[in-house]
Amino acid sequence: MTARPTVVVTRRLPEPVERELARDFDARLNHDDRPLGPEGLREALTTADALLCTVTDRLGADVLSAEPRRARLLANFGVGFNHIDVEAAKARGLAVSNTPDVLTDATADLAMTLLLAVTRRAGEGERHLRSGAWTGWRPTHMLGTQVSGKTLGLVGMGRIARAVARRAHHGFGMRTIFHDPFPPAPDAAAALGAEPRDRLEQVLEEADFVSLHCPATPETRHLMNAERLALLKPGAFLINTARGDVVDEAALVAALRGGRLAGAGLDVYEREPQVSPELLAMENVVLLPHLGSATQETRVAMGMRALENLRLFFQGAPLRDQVV
Ligand code: DGY
Repeated sequence: MTARPTVVVTRRLPEPVERELARDFDARLNHDDRPLGPEGLREALTTADALLCTVTDRLGADVLSAEPRRARLLANFGVGFNHIDVEAAKARGLAVSNTPDVLTDATADLAMTLLLAVTRRAGEGERHLRSGAWTGWRPTHMLGTQVSGKTLGLVGMGRIARAVARRAHHGFGMRTIFHDPFPPAPDAAAALGAEPRDRLEQVLEEADFVSLHCPATPETRHLMNAERLALLKPGAFLINTARGDVVDEAALVAALRGGRLAGAGLDVYEREPQVSPELLAMENVVLLPHLGSATQETRVAMGMRALENLRLFFQGAPLRDQVV
């Protein structure tokens, strides 16, 4: 019997996924769920055939240079892979896979959750009630901003943005506009009632709410800087379920303080798990701890997709979700 490939699983995964991993691989599970850190990752790269890694593992060129390396695949649990230096991986002959599609709906749902929560002051209202400060209904109490019928601007028009557009347009009667350097086919956008804009700045100037859906790349780092935040309509809201690096968090704090930006709904941060203390003190922001794909169903599906990539790789077949 041939030895089963050794797979280091860097974080705890939902139980059905861990069960299949243990059945099909010599899986080194992370029972106490502590991040491995650079040294642990280097050790994993030299002692295992593959890593099933997550967004909390910084796999930069320094870590990937671990020698003598045994691992040949980084099967990432997640669609975003900005925590992996994919060029360094490729140069060393390490394959990388991710888990697209299966988290699209959950993440789009969360973008809508943030949009509704921040515009309707849900976090603030809940804090108010729990603190015992509520004195009863009154016509002028905690008035928010209506989203139905307004204009939603999408930055990026990939799978998740399109799922948000569908919800916003068909569910909330919103007009949706978008900018993407690689836009979907015109009929695909039209089916979602989404109108393209040639320049990002047009989206920022025209939308009542802006939701970010671009990947984190060197080009999109601080895409939402002070200059671009200043283009937003007075009273606009910003939603970020993409990656923290896309927003200059200090500039966001300043824009919120200045009052031009009415609020923000954030699921991701520039220095996770740290969050700018100024944001923590603001009532007009809704802050979630990177929960975009965090449903039981989706996290199991992500694990199964990573497993599928692992199995294909060790069978010598093409990866389903090859990044490099
Ligand atoms: C993703 O899939 O990119 C999520 O943000 C978790 O990494």
